[in-house]
Amino acid sequence: MRPARKESQDSSAAASAVKDSTFGARHVAIIMDGNGRWAKKKHLPRALGHKKGVEAVRNIVRVAGETGIEVLTLYAFSSENWNRPRDEISDLMGLLRQYIQSDIEEFVENGIKLKVIGNYKGLEPDIVRLIEGALDRTAGNDRMTLAIALNYGAQDEIIRAVQTIAGAVQQGDVEPDKINAGHIADALDTADLPPLDLLIRTSGELRLSNFLLWQAAYSELYFTDVLWPDFDKRELQKALRSFGDRQRRFGGR
Ligand code: IPE
Ligand code: IPE
Ligand code: MG
Repeated sequence: MRPARKESQDSSAAASAVKDSTFGARHVAIIMDGNGRWAKKKHLPRALGHKKGVEAVRNIVRVAGETGIEVLTLYAFSSENWNRPRDEISDLMGLLRQYIQSDIEEFVENGIKLKVIGNYKGLEPDIVRLIEGALDRTAGNDRMTLAIALNYGAQDEIIRAVQTIAGAVQQGDVEPDKINAGHIADALDTADLPPLDLLIRTSGELRLSNFLLWQAAYSELYFTDVLWPDFDKRELQKALRSFGDRQRRFGGR
């Protein structure tokens, strides 16, 4: 039938437009680093660097949604960030509270599904409640998934996955020598997300800092000297273009 065909042509045109702007990257993750150095450069308190960092988050979430990225995963607080001074931790938690409260309506309106990876139940109880409320309210959305890594460490995530699998072994659900990569992937916090295509780190540091160690096995890596508060649409597009220029071989030839 003509109308049906027209519709499918339209949607395939839309799909290829999205592919053009994302260069085929479905899942992009960012280690948002450099808030402190951004503030220092401007002789401002670190807290203002973090505040500016939240503005960059807000902007990049919008841009990622418009670009057609399916999943954007943001490293917001690591399991090692508890080693920071108490004042700074409290500034970061305050900003997290504010961010969820002020942006939840926008997530609902824009079809953004929130997901949290990491041991978020280790955060303060009121933040856990805010997170769970936001997860609930956005569960039916499907335009883009925004996965925020909170109290996240990849080693901790892998340990928790191993505990889950050990439990299944104990129940007699899996034979130890039958455990495979699928069991591990399914037990990680990212179980329901597509494979990680592109991992970006800002601020010039060349390390992963315990982020997505399992998931990044064949991700393309992109490092930029730009400090997180300055990371904008242009910088994301640069990273995606660089991804588009890569030849992914996955060990083949
Ligand atoms: C990233 O900025 C934010 C978090 C880690 C929470 P930093 O606070 O690490 O900034 P730098 O690395 O000190 O510049
Ligand atoms: C990584 O940044 C964690 C986040 C961006 C949340 P850090 O600033 O904590 O990393 P290191 O300490 O320089 O490795
Ligand atoms: Mg840092």
